[in-house]
Amino acid sequence: MGETAGDRPRAAVSRRTLLGGAVALTGAAVALGAPWMRVADATAPGVPASPFTLGVASGDPTPDGVVLWTRLAPDPLAPDGRGGMPARPVLVEWEVAEDAGLRRVIARGSAVARPEDTHAVHVEVAGLRPAADHFYRFRVGTETSAIGRTRTAPAPGTKPERFAFAIASCQSRPDGYYNAYAGMVRDDLDLVVFLGDYIYESAASGVPGRSHLPARETTTLADYRLRHSQYKTDPDLQAAHAAFPWVVT
Ligand SMILES: [Fe+2]
Repeated sequence: MGETAGDRPRAAVSRRTLLGGAVALTGAAVALGAPWMRVADATAPGVPASPFTLGVASGDPTPDGVVLWTRLAPDPLAPDGRGGMPARPVLVEWEVAEDAGLRRVIARGSAVARPEDTHAVHVEVAGLRPAADHFYRFRVGTETSAIGRTRTAPAPGTKPERFAFAIASCQSRPDGYYNAYAGMVRDDLDLVVFLGDYIYESAASGVPGRSHLPARETTTLADYRLRHSQYKTDPDLQAAHAAFPWVVT
């Protein structure tokens, strides 16, 4: 803990500032086969293996962009809520493609995952086509995330033939499994709207293997970080995030 980056004042860093170093390449440049930026290799040492345990997500789609999310947490249930990450910033690379195989990459860049954000990143991607599927993933060093799919919103003034969305709410983990998310993933949705209670604060136990961590009512920042991590480890929840953009109220 020789570094103090985790104590850096938050106010100086906005989302846009974080993205200041982002590089969006043209389709033509990417077609040349440009690799992931090598700069990440210099910052990856010290990051434990398999940091993408909490999956990927996208949200708040607009006609030309979307927000991409991931969080580095090689030990997602670490009691201190820090996910097993070292207390220093880590560079995370991202790329967006038009195809599920990530061959036609149309945007690429990097973001800084900071300990004060528990190494979560929110990347605001722009320049995408409206009402279109896009595929994305992240990388830290040699570790790559799962591939997510997202969909941009329809262009202004257009009248889509269809716009399908699901509503989710009140996903109390101790009360059961997230079968509804497994069902959503089988649908062709443009959006998932989440209305409330993404996590619960209680000390509830319930369905075996679903009891809350920590095993007490959440009151501290570390408690909330751990509780949020625990919810995010659910495979059906991760699948629904990876399949569609969400709007979370
Ligand atoms: Fe609720």
